[in-house]
Amino acid sequence: MTRRLTLITLALSALAFGAGSAQAQSDTVKIGVILPMTGQSASTGKQIDAAIKLWVAQNGSKAGGKKVEVILKDDAGVADTTRRLAQELVVNDKVVALAGFGLTPLALATAPIATQSKTPLVVMAAATSMITEASPYIVRTSFTLPQAAVSIAEWAAKNKVKKVVTLVADYGPGNDAEKYFADRFVLNGGTVAEKLRTPLRSPDFAPVLQKVRDAAPDALFVFLPSGQGAQFMKQFGERGLAKAGIKLIATGDVTDDDQLNDMGDVALGVVNSHHYSAAHPSPANKKYVEAFEAANKFRPNFMSVGGYDGMRVIYNALNTTKGAGGDALLAAMKGQIFESPRGPVLIDAQTRDIVQDIYIRKVERVNGQLYNIEFDVQKGVKDPGKLK
Ligand code: PHB
Repeated sequence: MTRRLTLITLALSALAFGAGSAQAQSDTVKIGVILPMTGQSASTGKQIDAAIKLWVAQNGSKAGGKKVEVILKDDAGVADTTRRLAQELVVNDKVVALAGFGLTPLALATAPIATQSKTPLVVMAAATSMITEASPYIVRTSFTLPQAAVSIAEWAAKNKVKKVVTLVADYGPGNDAEKYFADRFVLNGGTVAEKLRTPLRSPDFAPVLQKVRDAAPDALFVFLPSGQGAQFMKQFGERGLAKAGIKLIATGDVTDDDQLNDMGDVALGVVNSHHYSAAHPSPANKKYVEAFEAANKFRPNFMSVGGYDGMRVIYNALNTTKGAGGDALLAAMKGQIFESPRGPVLIDAQTRDIVQDIYIRKVERVNGQLYNIEFDVQKGVKDPGKLK
């Protein structure tokens, strides 16, 4: 009897030991964050990294009963590097989720890795409509260019703008912005006189601004990725387009909170559309901006909320799955509804894309600082790119 008990005890403790060591391994879940911390898009990396750290500082480094470890990697905005880093994070670090992705080509390069390894991939920044269709494991917490472009096209058509020239960065999100702006503007009776594009890397705005001047439209519509707005705005001012009576309208990427305050008077009065303003007048956003500025000494921009809400989506999902990854974690990300600093948000369970309010804003000086001040809103906007 005693011997039998001893044997059972031994067997059980062996089991317990085995389980214990497995437990020890899985006590921690890792999140692999890949961002451009250097290079042309470094401000996107800086903003999202700061937002992730704020989320962890406010919500603790535990989710679903596990310790959460965030591993940050710098891809410098180079797609081959993003893909290699993602591979290493999945194979060596066994991350439960990949996150970040500062530019469209970086997200697209990594999509096959998410699919093959069944690892949920949270796009916190990139904004070309079709990214979520590149893998069933992609979830987006940023925005899409069609969401922003359609709203400003409608505003322009209703506000005495008849003839427009468009100017966009020549890659995925720029193509989306150009197409969805033009289609909606023309549908509402406007004319697009010319469609101009600048290269993503090291653009020179002088030649295209000359073309805009020559075309003499009522307004110039612009999309440029976060980080290029200040340089563009400077040249727009220097070349006297505003003085020639050409109104500037844009997506909020151009009047980016990260740079807006340094743009000066040329930015005043620019009407634009986007999902986030640091001046969004909600209690949740006031709290967010105060905490963010206290921690970082700079203003949060629209990229930061993509990072903050991306962490929220991952934490919520880990709480649901008790730390499990793969298909269970993906399923728990779908359909989440929450109040973001930007306003109410839904992660559409069908498309895995974000549904959110899009605001029409005007750049104004408030207490000596430039802000995008919201004056109209379109509620619960689904990505128009998925309504085909
Ligand atoms: C993108 O590459 O998808 C992208 C980057 C910056 C933006 C918007 C879109 O501001």
